[in-house]
Amino acid sequence: MSIDAAEYRQRREAFMAKMGNGTAIFRSAPMAVMHNDVEYGFRQDSDFYYLTGFNEPEAVAVLAPHHEEHRYVLFVQPKELDKETWTGYRVGVEQAKAEFGADEVYPINELDEHLPKYLKNSDRILYHLGQEDSFNQRILRHWQRQMRLYQKRGMGPIAIEDPSPTLHPMRQVKSAKEIELMRKAANIAAIAHNRAMAYAKPGVYEYQVQAEIEHTFRIEGGLGFAYPSIVASGDNACILHYIENTRQLQEGDLLLIDAGCSYQYYNSDITRTFPVSGQFTKQQQAIYEIVLEAQLKAIEEVKPDNPYNEFHDIAVCVLVQGLLDLGLLQGDLEEIIKEEKYKPFYMHRTGHWLGLDVHDAGAYQHGEDNWRNFQPGHVVTVEPGIYINPNIQPAEGQPEVPEEWRGIGVRIEDDVLVTTTGHEVLTQDVPK
Ligand code: GLY
Ligand code: MN
Ligand code: MN
Repeated sequence: MSIDAAEYRQRREAFMAKMGNGTAIFRSAPMAVMHNDVEYGFRQDSDFYYLTGFNEPEAVAVLAPHHEEHRYVLFVQPKELDKETWTGYRVGVEQAKAEFGADEVYPINELDEHLPKYLKNSDRILYHLGQEDSFNQRILRHWQRQMRLYQKRGMGPIAIEDPSPTLHPMRQVKSAKEIELMRKAANIAAIAHNRAMAYAKPGVYEYQVQAEIEHTFRIEGGLGFAYPSIVASGDNACILHYIENTRQLQEGDLLLIDAGCSYQYYNSDITRTFPVSGQFTKQQQAIYEIVLEAQLKAIEEVKPDNPYNEFHDIAVCVLVQGLLDLGLLQGDLEEIIKEEKYKPFYMHRTGHWLGLDVHDAGAYQHGEDNWRNFQPGHVVTVEPGIYINPNIQPAEGQPEVPEEWRGIGVRIEDDVLVTTTGHEVLTQDVPK
């Protein structure tokens, strides 16, 4: 189960069809230092991977649809046995040409030599300014050189354009094969959450629950966690990105687990919250039921042609009504929403695109307050929550929160695929 060469070619062709006479340059991800001379495991840049399927550092892809012979060019690390002995196998120039569909492949150290011939007949350069400024400067110098020639030639790349607005709408709509991989990532994470639920009990440490989850990610064939796993018991559930995972679970705690895995670079992102001793307190149950209702109602709004904001708006509405019913908020529903007086309890949005990135590429609006519509192939998370921090500061004019409610944090998150007729919850195998 993987994306084949034909699909990568089709993606490049679809992207090139939108490029006119531009030349696009994509760079592989840099290596990240863990400490001293030890690096983190390599993780390819998502745009680069989407278009090439090539999974090595120190690589550049050039798309030049106007070039007569070489519409797709790769620059890669050459084969060097002594280096490969230390840092691993490289595809190399010859094999990259045979396996990755490039019209021409050069060693990466020849980039400056060969790039000009792919730029000179273009009308603009599509390049996303990356994190490494020295590489950005290198591309800008190429641009400058081309523009020095402009007076004589009367043609050349007169602008640099970010490729994201062209490429990311493609990444947003998942192909059948991508959906298969996302379903697999969802299934592995579902197994992990079920295993964590069976394992968690008073006396166990958060990091032990984390180990159960991440063990499952690898044993089931995933690459590992999609983002650092959040295993947050008791008050820790009120910290959105709690990743220390050091506390011992206590009788009466809620445990919030937000953990997803990466499978062939496609991600899942699941949150469940449950009582570690098997029984909610009255307050915990009241909060949980509000969040669950908000989540179920929000999921109903994930369907073709519905604007992206609807599922968030309905979730906020249900959460605020629930908090009003409990007396934790007071006043008029619409006014509380308009003035955002619920924000001490709910400070994030209800979801995000999901795919090669956990917070995946693609715009949410076409300009302010003009939300995009869902379409089949979109994948979004739906993740409302209520967080009553022990030190919660109510919004102006709102009541103090009584002691018995403090320290309760609940989030429920599923991954939802938009289908032609509605939606499919990819992560439904985890109970809620
Ligand atoms: N765990 C990341 C997120 O839910 O957005
Ligand atoms: Mn999450
Ligand atoms: Mn999420």
